[in-house]
Amino acid sequence: MTRSCEEMRDRVKSIVFKPEDRKTLDLTFGPGIAADLVGRTPEALAKAEKEGRLAAPKQLSNGRRYYTLEDLTHIREALGIHAGKAPDEDAVIIAVQNFKGGVGKSTITKHFADYLALHGYRVLVIDCDPQASTTTMFDIQPETLIDDEETLGQFLSPRSTFDNFRQAIRDTAWPTIKIVPSSLGLQDAEWDLTATLREGGQAVREGLQRLRIGISSIVKDYDVILLDPPPAMGFLGLNVMAAATGLLVPVPARQLDYLSTIHFMDTIAENIEVLEANGTPVDYGFIRIVCSAYTPSKPGENDMWKMMQATYANFLLSQPILASEEIKNATQAFRSVYESKPSASHATYQRCRDNLDSVFGEVVQQVRQQWPSKSIAGRAGETVTSAAA
Ligand SMILES: Nc1ncnc2c1ncn2[C@@H]1O[C@H](COP(=O)(O)OP(=O)(O)O)[C@@H](O)[C@H]1O
Ligand SMILES: [Mg+2]
Repeated sequence: MTRSCEEMRDRVKSIVFKPEDRKTLDLTFGPGIAADLVGRTPEALAKAEKEGRLAAPKQLSNGRRYYTLEDLTHIREALGIHAGKAPDEDAVIIAVQNFKGGVGKSTITKHFADYLALHGYRVLVIDCDPQASTTTMFDIQPETLIDDEETLGQFLSPRSTFDNFRQAIRDTAWPTIKIVPSSLGLQDAEWDLTATLREGGQAVREGLQRLRIGISSIVKDYDVILLDPPPAMGFLGLNVMAAATGLLVPVPARQLDYLSTIHFMDTIAENIEVLEANGTPVDYGFIRIVCSAYTPSKPGENDMWKMMQATYANFLLSQPILASEEIKNATQAFRSVYESKPSASHATYQRCRDNLDSVFGEVVQQVRQQWPSKSIAGRAGETVTSAAA
């Protein structure tokens, strides 16, 4: 059975991935979207092009102008547009946390990473789930990492001597997204970490802080670091909670998932106590619940969404992620909607993207609040300081 599973996996991959086995991105943007992504008007871009501050955009044979991902980077550099944090600030580390499987953690991690990259942020994704679906969506095949010494599993395991976190970081098809992929060895790391319980004290504390320590060595190099946690709570999950500086909790608008979030909240609270009792206090800059799959026409889901609003109030993102065939189809092809062409009508595809954009836009507001150089409070503070000076 194992063999036939492996054969089938290889067949699926040979169909889905390009023959050279690397995903290639060929994203292009019209002037309107390009301007939106860099935060300028199309007129401002056209003016800069006319004045020679920007290279003229590429043109299709029909005369339509377009920009590539690299062009967006050049525009930002040429016009001094800087989306992310100041150099001396730390990356915001977001755990897409929920202890249940199938609630949309990996889907959100992948889509949010792509969204951030499109908007000019430098992103590191750390896949802490041995199931490795996020890793696969970034076109790294976890099985190929099995004999590799420089993996997350090796870094986390107290039995391993590998301790250069930076070496576990790989490239993706996106120039500004890097990934620390998951591998099958991550499960072994969980066991090794759990074994520190026998030693107690310092060993447990170090076991809980491994990921936090690894991230601290690269925390200035990225704007946002996204953690995709394992679905069960153990040492890996505690490492994720200890390393994060913000939580994004996906909850689908389904009765059972909603009810299990009560349990989730209890577990989070207990885990924070465990971390604190072991010398690893956490302090999250924000916690947000995101409704991760909502079908307004489905009986009960509308009531569920209202209940979520009543329960979580300001902790709930104001827009739910709509359940969408576009998302389902894209992820089945190991891609995000941002990397895919419409699978049905263009209007459906655009609705899906607009919905994701508005949800992620809200999270970005939370992210920016964490950087004094970007937050409203920080800017107000600066004015006060300079006035005083
Ligand atoms: N908004 C959505 N619309 C449609 N399908 C979705 C949506 N979010 C997630 N899915 C699908 O649900 C399944 C589980 O999602 P996944 O992100 O892998 O969950 P988790 O990482 O929490 O286990 C996937 O097949 C994914 O395509
Ligand atoms: Mg997952």
